[in-house]
Amino acid sequence: MEQFIVKGEVQLNGNVKINGAKNATLPLMAATLLSSGISVLHGVPNLRDIVMMQDIMTLLGAKISHEGNDTLVIDTTGVSKAEIPEHLMREMRASVFLMGPLLGRFRKVRLSYPGGCAIGPRPIDLHIKALERIGALVCDKFGYIQAEATELTGGEIYLDFPSVGATENAMMAAAVAEGVTIIRNAAREPEVLDLECFLNKMGAKILGAGSDTIRVTGVKRLNPAEHTVIPDRIEAGTFILAGAITGGDVIVENVIPEHLSAVTDKLREVGVKIINGVNSIRVRAGGFRGVDIKTLPYPGFPTDLQAPLLAMLTLAKGTSIITETIFENRFKHVDELSRMGAKIKVEGRTAIIRGVSKLTGATVAVHDLRAGAAMVLAALAAEGTSEIENVFHIDRGYESLETRLQSLGGDIVRVY
Ligand code: EPZ
Repeated sequence: MEQFIVKGEVQLNGNVKINGAKNATLPLMAATLLSSGISVLHGVPNLRDIVMMQDIMTLLGAKISHEGNDTLVIDTTGVSKAEIPEHLMREMRASVFLMGPLLGRFRKVRLSYPGGCAIGPRPIDLHIKALERIGALVCDKFGYIQAEATELTGGEIYLDFPSVGATENAMMAAAVAEGVTIIRNAAREPEVLDLECFLNKMGAKILGAGSDTIRVTGVKRLNPAEHTVIPDRIEAGTFILAGAITGGDVIVENVIPEHLSAVTDKLREVGVKIINGVNSIRVRAGGFRGVDIKTLPYPGFPTDLQAPLLAMLTLAKGTSIITETIFENRFKHVDELSRMGAKIKVEGRTAIIRGVSKLTGATVAVHDLRAGAAMVLAALAAEGTSEIENVFHIDRGYESLETRLQSLGGDIVRVY
């Protein structure tokens, strides 16, 4: 298994360019299935999750090729299947984003229940409720879900929770339903707005993404389109926190600062210097204080940066309290950080972190993507050397993380 070997106590300094957003790219790729023809996505990151989505779509009949180092050319003319095999569903939960487009194109879709994962059970009841509201008949047995619709007709969808995936699936299916669909309590994440932009380029009539109410006026057919993916706010936040925890001076480029307002505001609150440019953010760190924070749906503090922030707060002056309101079990990184000398107590969905003066390197395991990022940040700041195992989790969401940290002065290598 590949590992990272990290020598700590090195300040990160310099500029790093942020890639396109994984969590925008995945629904955008799925949305291309709503039309027959060749769509082009620019700014696509080279990540395991993107490769997995590509494999699934190829299996469905799409022809996908790369141009340059970040452009995907997706020909969906030959797509004829609407069934996703179990082994691929288990590999990646984001395959659930294919439900809406396949239902929209073929009026039927069959897929196995996406597995839960390290951060919680990850149900899809809200996805199913949304699709039923616009005419889908959904049945689930033997671990498979089958959705069919003779007609998709606009309707009122209320999401009990502003689920990102359920919002996106609903938008994609409603885009080709007969009539108007209103999605209430919709997720407001920037990736939802990026999907609206792309669907409208395809000929859809969608308004309101980015707010909690989205209005979709169905059209008969959608056409292929070209689009550039928005920057990855979670990758950007991870590099900002890496600059902060190492006491360095880092500029992240190709970002939309407002997408990170909750993160940069909290960092300013703890005493980290943040300077916003037009499409860059500079972090200059000295010491920082403890803070209390809750993860919330956008525009609140993003759950995907909870683990990297927690890693940083292990070295804060004072105590911090982090409450994870989005996922049930997203503190897997705590045990591993404790092996490095962190003082953390978890009670249900709350972690109490007592700042220590230093962490010490250790051999640590990675359980999920963002916990992996947290371990790298802690290792970069710790005294001595750390070995980080199972780094394949990290490759799901960060392209060549070690190379880019090396470019900032980090002493980190990948060993096979
Ligand atoms: C998206 O996942 C992201 N993934 C996640 O990023 C992110 O953490 C999450 O949104 C929250 O921001 C992608 O976009 C590919 P949700 P998604 O539906 O859509 C519950 C990463 O690290 N829920 O908003 O699956 C669910 O259990 C990943 O990049 C239901 O109860 O998230 C969870 O507690 C991790 N029923 C909460 O809602 C449903 O039908 C948030 O889930 C759906 C969700």
